[in-house]
Amino acid sequence: MTEMEESVLREAEILAERTFEGDSSGHDMDHTLRVARMAMRLAEEEGADPFRTRLAALLHDVDDRKLSPETADCLSKAAAFLKEHRIPDAESILAAIREVSFAGSDSVRPSSIEGCCVQDADRLDAMGAIGIARAFAYGGSRGRKMYDPEILPRLNMDGETYRQHVSTTLNHFYEKLFLLKDRMTTASGRRIAQERDRVLRGFVDEFLDEWKGIR
Ligand code: ADP
Ligand code: NI
Repeated sequence: MTEMEESVLREAEILAERTFEGDSSGHDMDHTLRVARMAMRLAEEEGADPFRTRLAALLHDVDDRKLSPETADCLSKAAAFLKEHRIPDAESILAAIREVSFAGSDSVRPSSIEGCCVQDADRLDAMGAIGIARAFAYGGSRGRKMYDPEILPRLNMDGETYRQHVSTTLNHFYEKLFLLKDRMTTASGRRIAQERDRVLRGFVDEFLDEWKGIR
């Protein structure tokens, strides 16, 4: 990576830090840095461009709908950054950012390998031990119950239904987290996802056994 590229990445980190100050919805700076780290690891195995992968990862949530609803459609924070720093083929980075989000069943396979690395990295951060912690942190921030045997998970939701649906945090595992391992688009992401999926399922089994008092 050139010095110029490294300095652009530092600037992107600063923009993300400013955007996430004070947020508790799970879209914090630490999430962004983990995604950037994992995306770089995948990029190396997949032969993706490390600079463009890390840049897309650092910017992937700065226009997120939950944090910044007014810029979510046009990705104006990310777009302004790419323009200001004269990043070549900014459109493909914006496409990668747009393609990252998973909402119900209408998610897309990213159009670039860099986008695939960022999408897999973002999904991996919702899995494993960190994914469990994030799910309960998010559920708590929305006043959700951890679990309620009366409220069944709803599967096969489209994007709009998924966003409107009020559920429990444990149902989120069935509605989203258990589906992620089959939605990885890189070979390295798929491998890591297998392991993290086992962690999720082991946790849910244990949780339900403890709830019923049989363990
Ligand atoms: P992403 O960063 O992939 O766009 P989201 O914005 O959907 O993810 O969610 C951020 C984090 O909050 C993820 O770890 C996700 O699993 C968790 N989360 C999202 N919706 C819920 C929910 N309804 N219940 C529990 N956790 C949730
Ligand atoms: Ni994210």
